[in-house]
Amino acid sequence: MAPLVPMVKLPLTVLAIESSCDETAAAVVRVDAHGARILSDVIASQITEHAPYGGVVPEVAARAHLRVIDPVVRQALAEANGWESLDAIAATAGPGLVGALLIGLQTAKTLAWARGLPFVGVNHLVGHILAAFLHPDLGVPGFPYVALLASGGHTALYRVDSPGTMRELGATRDDAAGEAFDKIARILGLGYPGGPIIDRLAAAGNAMAVPFTSPMHRKGSLEFSFSGLKTAVAQHVRMHGVPTKGAGLEDLAAGVQHAIVESLVSKLVAAAVREGVVHAVISGGVAANRGLRAAAAKACAARGIALHIPPAQSCTDNAAMIAYAGVMALMAGKTDGITLDARASWSVEDAVQGRR
Ligand code: KG4
Ligand code: ZN
Repeated sequence: MAPLVPMVKLPLTVLAIESSCDETAAAVVRVDAHGARILSDVIASQITEHAPYGGVVPEVAARAHLRVIDPVVRQALAEANGWESLDAIAATAGPGLVGALLIGLQTAKTLAWARGLPFVGVNHLVGHILAAFLHPDLGVPGFPYVALLASGGHTALYRVDSPGTMRELGATRDDAAGEAFDKIARILGLGYPGGPIIDRLAAAGNAMAVPFTSPMHRKGSLEFSFSGLKTAVAQHVRMHGVPTKGAGLEDLAAGVQHAIVESLVSKLVAAAVREGVVHAVISGGVAANRGLRAAAAKACAARGIALHIPPAQSCTDNAAMIAYAGVMALMAGKTDGITLDARASWSVEDAVQGRR
């Protein structure tokens, strides 16, 4: 491992590996005074391997990462002109499935050691929270901003004062928003992952035809709760059966999506107002939802909040966001040794304050 010399100067070019869940990803990102530039962004999805089980199976995920990690990293390097320009290597160290994380983390540490490059472990959630900086041509959020992270594994709000100063404002008490989409889609027999399927169906439905109460979890709090909605849908299906396409399924999907979106958007706006900030970011797989994008844009515009939602490819799990977060960590003087271990849980606060 290279000496732990703080690297504080831009430009920096970092290779990052992400393997916390069901995507094997590697990317090279260069950050200079003008911001980030994605030189390569390779993602191998395992969705088809997990689809028969209706969710991510940890053991299946780890084996699939092991199978494709080498070609994925090779491709990311090849597209970014190889090793020459690299200043450091980053990898997601948590939170996530430990067996899955270890594949990317061990690969990254080994490459760093073999190449004599500095290594830094990155918090997956911090990566999502900073993903809005990957496309400076689309505009970047100003500090401070509130970030809504809504994915299959996490749903939470953060106040972000700088790349190294973040605080959780509220999180889900039970299911994540994406998990709610996936579980409800399963109840409706729609397949996996459920979010994009419900999104498509909802576009042709009327949310008011099958209204569900928006899961607010204690009005005024910035916490979320989605398991009640899942129960309500299950109950609806027990009473009325699962409607078919063209005969109510679209309306049901629209009702479900409306309830989830309203909860997410109202809490995002409430967080921005409470914190007195005028910039907001939405990231994570659920940020691809068209209903969420439209409702958030409308609500934020009405409140004078500038909303930033990265392109879909940078919202779902990817390594470019890990590379960018890695650059920010390196600029703050952080590096990790070869002994850094994977962590199933690792809070954003602990990560930015340097607690490994
Ligand atoms: O961020 P991500 O790729 O992986 C995790 O870290 O979880 O998010 C995946 C989640 C899944 O639950 C999926 O159903 C959801 O994001 N998702 C969507 C949409 N596209 C993906 N949810 C709602 N609408 C979408 N269009
Ligand atoms: Zn994620």
